[in-house]
Amino acid sequence: MNPTASDVTSVPSSRLRCINCGHVADHAEQDFRCPNCGDLFEVFYPGWTSGLSGSGLDGQTLKRVWHERRTSLAPADTSGVWRFRELLPALKAGHKPITLREGNTPLFDLPRCAHSAGVDDLQAKHQGMNPTASFKDTGMTTAASFARQENFRWVACASTGNTSASMAAYAARGGMQSLVLIPEGKISWGKLSQSLDYCAVTCQLRSDFDGCVRVLNELVRRKPVYLLNSVNPYRLEGQKTAAIELLEQLSWEPPDHIIVPGGNLGNSSALGKALKEMKDLGLISRLPKLSVIQAEGANPFFRSIREHGGKQLIPTEANTLATAIRIGNPASWKKALRVLEATCGTVEEVSEVEIALAKAEIGSDGVGCEPASAVTLAGLKKLVRQGFVKKNERIILVLTGHVLKDPEFTLKFHRGDLFVGSTHEKEAKSLVPQQRAPFVLDANLESVIRVLEDFDAKEPSYAG
Ligand code: F0G
Repeated sequence: MNPTASDVTSVPSSRLRCINCGHVADHAEQDFRCPNCGDLFEVFYPGWTSGLSGSGLDGQTLKRVWHERRTSLAPADTSGVWRFRELLPALKAGHKPITLREGNTPLFDLPRCAHSAGVDDLQAKHQGMNPTASFKDTGMTTAASFARQENFRWVACASTGNTSASMAAYAARGGMQSLVLIPEGKISWGKLSQSLDYCAVTCQLRSDFDGCVRVLNELVRRKPVYLLNSVNPYRLEGQKTAAIELLEQLSWEPPDHIIVPGGNLGNSSALGKALKEMKDLGLISRLPKLSVIQAEGANPFFRSIREHGGKQLIPTEANTLATAIRIGNPASWKKALRVLEATCGTVEEVSEVEIALAKAEIGSDGVGCEPASAVTLAGLKKLVRQGFVKKNERIILVLTGHVLKDPEFTLKFHRGDLFVGSTHEKEAKSLVPQQRAPFVLDANLESVIRVLEDFDAKEPSYAG
């Protein structure tokens, strides 16, 4: 095999294995549940042996091949997901991936955030820099490609907004029709508007995310519709490449900590799977600790671990302004638990005001992110205070969504309206120094100069 070829079918075969009973299958039913016990499947690669991927390439050769592909113009090579195809399930001969050149996301230094968290060095892997502005694209390119290979006309998902925007884009690119189920009034307009432009049939259900999932699970049992939520293991295979790309950006030197927001817990499961696979294949020498942060109002995983030792998960009614992670019954909690155990990571919860502050701080580094992503910085601060993260350790925050995903949140924050009338109103007074509401002025030079001078008088060293 020519390892630089752009043919994505010349890579190893994969199978599905139930994470609970171990049942192995080559094909899943439309609900992607194990027919024996109802639990989730994961993709595995029977051809992999220690230190060698199924392509027969060792770790050093894989690193070289992936690096070389960065100068290739072949569509599968310009994708930051399919570039790592030796670690992905193969499409059948003649089938091409649906790609929008996803992945390829930057790693940014966050000096102001590092200072505020009390650590020496802090970086963010910004998955919001994907084509539809969230990490979902890295999984959608793989799963949507498998949907098309299986000749589905319809693909569908329940979503808090980002999955639906991503699915709609990839379905449109792949010539499929998409059906979106979202909770009415509980997702940001930015995300909803993307689905509409990308031609999705969009249903706003009078329910929450968990209610949308329930309806979708019933639908896929009745109609020939391909499920694109993260219970679909092909999505997680694509999402795991963010960790591979990250390690490549770090010259394969593992950081000490990777911190991820937790909603339905697919992303933490995917990134953890990649870390374990990279270790098994000899691509990295040790595992970073992967920790998950939830919002206090949507914290079933945090409670499962703190109150029940991870033995069970009791669904909660979720409520947080970080709407992307407003999820009370996360599907992938068992997979995420295994990742925390394998990597010695932890779980934490953060308050609404802590999230809002962290989001503004990430913005102040010129990076920005959506509210759900900001839980990572808020969580890091707690983990530093607890001594779980040390000042001199190397830490990566995974920012999952772009700052423009939720402009309502940002505007309300800066106008000081975000917590008005809520139980957080008093605590939110601490946010005033971060707030920068726009000035409405008469159109004359004097008014603008007065604003500049007032600003300099109040914050003489802001730019420093
Ligand atoms: N961050 C963002 C921006 C998200 O959109 C999501 C999930 C998460 C974090 C949590 O990731 O579910 O893998 O633990 N959004 C979903 C959606 C559920 O429908 O867009 P997770």
